[in-house]
Amino acid sequence: MSSPAAVRAICCIGAGYVGGPTMAVIADRCPHIQVTVVDLNAERIAAWNDPDLSQLPVYEPGLDAVVGRARGRNLHFSTQVEAAIAAADLVFISVNTPTKTRGLGAGQASDLKWVEASARTVARAARGHTIVVEKSTLPVRTAAVIQEILTAAQGEQAGSSFSVLSNPEFLAEGTAIEDLEQPDRVLIGGQDPAAVEALAEIYASWVPQERILRTNLWSSELSKLTANAFLAQRISSINGIAAFCEATGADVREVARAIGADSRIGPKFLQAGPGFGGSCFQKDILNLVYLCRHYGLEEVADYWEQVVALNRWQQQRIARLVITKLFGTVSGKRIGVLGFAFKADTNDTRESPAIRICQELLDEGAILQIVDPKVSERQITLDLGRPAGEGEGSWQQMSTVQQAAAGADALLLLTEWQQFAQIDWPAVAALMRRPAWLFDARAKADASAARAAGLQVWVVGEG
Ligand code: NAD
Ligand code: UGA
Repeated sequence: MSSPAAVRAICCIGAGYVGGPTMAVIADRCPHIQVTVVDLNAERIAAWNDPDLSQLPVYEPGLDAVVGRARGRNLHFSTQVEAAIAAADLVFISVNTPTKTRGLGAGQASDLKWVEASARTVARAARGHTIVVEKSTLPVRTAAVIQEILTAAQGEQAGSSFSVLSNPEFLAEGTAIEDLEQPDRVLIGGQDPAAVEALAEIYASWVPQERILRTNLWSSELSKLTANAFLAQRISSINGIAAFCEATGADVREVARAIGADSRIGPKFLQAGPGFGGSCFQKDILNLVYLCRHYGLEEVADYWEQVVALNRWQQQRIARLVITKLFGTVSGKRIGVLGFAFKADTNDTRESPAIRICQELLDEGAILQIVDPKVSERQITLDLGRPAGEGEGSWQQMSTVQQAAAGADALLLLTEWQQFAQIDWPAVAALMRRPAWLFDARAKADASAARAAGLQVWVVGEG
């Protein structure tokens, strides 16, 4: 099977957190390639085309500059999905793959309906030879499904042919541009060497060759799920130890430093917190669990499932701890919530620990005063399943920490935004009702300044 020697036009299906930033960096680094990012969501595409770069639908440090350089030159955002596929010699599929909510595998398996729809659209619209690249995170052996859909189309459309590759994305939100510009590795899985090399050549424009790894399709697909499972496992491990530290007088930051100094363990991803959030860790582990069960590997499935169970427990533990410390009831009490995004430097709230923790406090009758520099009121409304309001069991969005603290019995720090490290504690404490608490689930605030200002302070993992 012959493949184009060099890719000249790329289409990316899915203008989300991955498709948008990834294609912007490819376009920026490869001015000789035309890159078109398409999506069915017209509102999202309009936001990507907004002349005001602060209105892009994804907030990532540095993204506006990259889009500003490439957009209109060789980076385009469009709703014309089929036209962009027809013009492309390489198509990335970067659509959402959430956990299934109903039917077979509900609650664990990934819902592949958007991937399948994308493959069918490619089958219909592609012209000549097209390299189809899985960018979404997918269950092992999904490439076989995509290949089957495309092969069926080959029979119908004379002259079209396809090569399927796996090229999972490892960027983390908040550092997406840095991760894309200087990746630890780029992973390409495939059986067609010409297609693998065509994709590798794109990345080679800025990624050193030794960081471009080539594997077979299934290893590539499984490596992505495994990487996320290992990363999430470290967080559940350290969060479990944090609870143990609180019970015994040890300090989880000291423990993390001590174990992280062992070069076999390493210092990264040992930050105790309110549990991991984000659209992927939970979904990818549950998918791994589902696949293990499918292949009869019950013990392996049980092992990984515990990573998710411990994460849920950590979120519940923090909500209950707040209630307990506030004399067993938060009914009618104001609590300032510092941060709603699942981590700092992103506007993304998917699976944010703040959602479950806030819901639990609302169910107990708390009045939440939420402040987050990037998350909109509309998003919080969607996540909490209720609009802003007043009275017991309600929430409001505030613009400053001072507003969040006004009349509050406690502040609960859930996202590690830099600004929360620089709170003027005497001024903020003066606005709160005594006795007042700071619950710092990220160990981000200046705890000694808060204590000096008269607050009682709980810090995750501090015994
Ligand atoms: P997202 O929901 O932000 O974006 C997906 C986009 O695809 C949406 O805008 C949706 O409208 C569009 N879409 C769905 N079906 C379509 C179709 N048939 N035609 C055109 N557009 C369609 O999702 P995301 O966060 O970008 O994640 C995409 C994939 O990348 C997922 O598989 C995810 O697991 C994986 N991933 C995500 C991250 C991350 O940090 N968010 C990192 C690595 C990998
Ligand atoms: C994660 C992975 O880091 C990426 O490599 C992967 O590409 C991505 O998932 C994906 O597949 O979607 P992301 O979820 O964007 O990236 O962000 P992380 O930095 O991994 O943080 C995930 C969650 O873990 C956040 O809630 C964060 O606050 C939490 N976390 C992280 C901790 O609680 N402690 C830590 O030490 C690190």
